[in-house]
Amino acid sequence: MDGSRVILVGVTGGIAAYKVVDVVRRLQRSGWEAHVAMTPSAAEFVTPMTFAALTRHPVLLHMFPDATRTAGDDLYPHLFPATRADAFLVCPATAGAIARLAAGMADDVVTASALALPGGCRRFFAPAMHPNMWASAAVQDNVRRLEEAGWIRIGPGQGAMACGVEGEGRMAEPEEIEAAVGTSVDLQGRRLLILSGPTREPIDAVRFISNASSGRMGRELALEASARGANVVFVTGPVAPPSLPVHPRVRIVPVTTARQMLTEAKRHVADADAVIFAAAVADVAPVRAAAGKLPKARLGRAIALAPTPDIAAELPSRPGQLRIGFALESGCARTHAAAKLRSKRFDAIVLNGPDSPGAEAAEFEFLQAGSPPAWSRWGRVSKAECARRILNHLVRRWTSLRT
Ligand code: C5P
Repeated sequence: MDGSRVILVGVTGGIAAYKVVDVVRRLQRSGWEAHVAMTPSAAEFVTPMTFAALTRHPVLLHMFPDATRTAGDDLYPHLFPATRADAFLVCPATAGAIARLAAGMADDVVTASALALPGGCRRFFAPAMHPNMWASAAVQDNVRRLEEAGWIRIGPGQGAMACGVEGEGRMAEPEEIEAAVGTSVDLQGRRLLILSGPTREPIDAVRFISNASSGRMGRELALEASARGANVVFVTGPVAPPSLPVHPRVRIVPVTTARQMLTEAKRHVADADAVIFAAAVADVAPVRAAAGKLPKARLGRAIALAPTPDIAAELPSRPGQLRIGFALESGCARTHAAAKLRSKRFDAIVLNGPDSPGAEAAEFEFLQAGSPPAWSRWGRVSKAECARRILNHLVRRWTSLRT
């Protein structure tokens, strides 16, 4: 880690707040620049001075700081450092804080900061409360809402509570929190080349050959990879703008045809630590695109077709570079995917079916190269989850290559 990554820790009012001192120390030791925001009730448990001394930054406590003593960014505690944060951790997250976060309220500096985070910021919460409160329908509902909105929950654990009862509701231990936040940047410094979306092969000035790919899988991969610290070059065929992964660490390179995709991929492949071939490249292209619009009557006779370049086969690779492919098959799926894994020199291949293009979730299987190659049946998972698993695989491979 280069030390420049910023984490904002939001402390809310529970007895577990005393453990956050250790959490902040650990995060600092693993390279984070830590800032702390507290609700006034958190300040009943730990003094802001403790965190200010540890982080060497002013602690954000009041929504309305003393304007006679502060200036510049300090006048906007709900925006700075929130708008510059790479990660945000609410710890402990009380039942009340979870409810306010889930509802999008902004009535203290912790919840207001949560709304001001940039798109790529990872958001974590470590719940801590009495087991009955944790089990209550209202809390569980709010937790689900946060998770659906992309928040990563850490804990709670099972064990003795400060009030004397035993049960589920203890805040996760500091080392567990450190590990969860740490793995969230496990692609820091990695460079990925992702090919995504369909290609379009022109027949004439208005018609083309293409397929139903929406670019959703590639988008999820790029967003997940960049959120975990990677720099991504994203070569994409034509897709609707909401399918593009907008993030400061994603460079979008738009192309139209398979040939253009190959040209751009060649331009960027040497810099990539891994290449993910998530594009649904059109299999064939008209040999010649007609100028203007062909008359309907001539269409059947006028379109001579030729195969498009096989990008995965033609793209050079360098030693140590990992290559992940996709296969969309309907019959003899596993046999075909296994053949592609070999012929296209993939490190792993992700198999999905014809219901996948455009869908939010699909049935996935994963085949990892080896002797013999090993299948994992992932079942029906969202494309976001599929992206997480593919990237976890890359991290595991890089770790095993190092050792
Ligand atoms: O189209 P096919 O099923 O052979 O695709 C398997 C893999 O090869 C996919 O990862 C796809 O992105 C890649 N591919 C490619 N160039 C093509 C066709 C497919 O890179 N022309």
